[in-house]
Amino acid sequence: MASPRGAAAEIASPRGAAELTSPRGAATVAARLLRWFDANRRDLPWRRGCDPWAIWVSEVMLQQTRVEAVREPFVRFLRQFPTPTAFAAASDDELLTAWRGLGYYRRARLLRDGARQVVAQHGGRVPGAVGELAELPGIGAYTLGAVASIAFGHAEVAIDGNVERVVARHRGLREVTSTAAARRTIRATVGGWLDAARAGDFNQAVMELGAMVCTPTSPNCAACPVAADCVARALGLTAQLPARKPKRASIEVAARAVLVVGSRGVLGHRVAAGEPNVGQIELPGAGMLCSCDPGDLAAVVFRRFGARLSVGSVVASVRHAITHHRIELHAHAATGKSLGTLGWFAVDQATPWTTPSRKVFLAALGADGVMHA
Ligand code: ADE
Repeated sequence: MASPRGAAAEIASPRGAAELTSPRGAATVAARLLRWFDANRRDLPWRRGCDPWAIWVSEVMLQQTRVEAVREPFVRFLRQFPTPTAFAAASDDELLTAWRGLGYYRRARLLRDGARQVVAQHGGRVPGAVGELAELPGIGAYTLGAVASIAFGHAEVAIDGNVERVVARHRGLREVTSTAAARRTIRATVGGWLDAARAGDFNQAVMELGAMVCTPTSPNCAACPVAADCVARALGLTAQLPARKPKRASIEVAARAVLVVGSRGVLGHRVAAGEPNVGQIELPGAGMLCSCDPGDLAAVVFRRFGARLSVGSVVASVRHAITHHRIELHAHAATGKSLGTLGWFAVDQATPWTTPSRKVFLAALGADGVMHA
């Protein structure tokens, strides 16, 4: 196969790779992937129907979030917002509480922008043409390929991290995203494999293989339907391919906040623009990314919120991660003398408390306002 200009570095010699990619008498890569998928596909809530809105929602949720973490929020979200029209009318607080547990709230705002455009320009129905889907806010290359193929059967590829890993190993590629040429090579390979008659299942089959079999650190090659022509396997390089980005060093944060409980709820403040969890309600402290000495907490709360509090001992310590920050949040019992700009907020499902705040409620009060299964 002719290499695209500036193609990504291949590990195998072209001759060796060519021999491996066409074992005599073998079914095509797509046929083997689809047969494997038909026998092994997980039963996931978004795979039970073909409503384009549900598929769009699932694909947005699945970006940056594990499948297991998406199951429950997906079902809950669609019960609350069964159509683009319903979500287009959601308030900010409804959006934030509906998206709780998933993180990366910007995705939810973009999804609502997309739903609003569907209402304004397409009568509330998700458009089926690739060009129209591509115009919707929040639909990037991956979501476009996934929704167009899974919901509408268009012959489009959907390339996520799992797909990149499968292709990189199968073709013996070291680089997957570091250059435009590497990305083109991955795309061209998946496009060459694609079964246009079952594009949605094909895309899901490659993703599923990456998630279940061709995993980052312990691939189960014995269970892989395309192991026979996998270059990385033949060369004993599955552990090395694809090259991983060096992990960003994590930053440990000892955050502190006050827990003031009153008859009208708990004292909180709305997170300002520029801080993590913007728009949500947070326990008052120095901020989630700032370490704070216990002796400074009262002064910090006065400086930030004008509130005079008497701060006591730690009543709960919870862990939370935001990107590469590993946070331990210590919540101190406190009583209020004057509240400044702080306000009382109910601990219930309708109030968009941040996830670390809810973790504190669960640890200190035994309830976080959310029904747990
Ligand atoms: N990851 C993201 N979308 C997926 C899908 N539809 N199937 C499997 N894994 C996925």
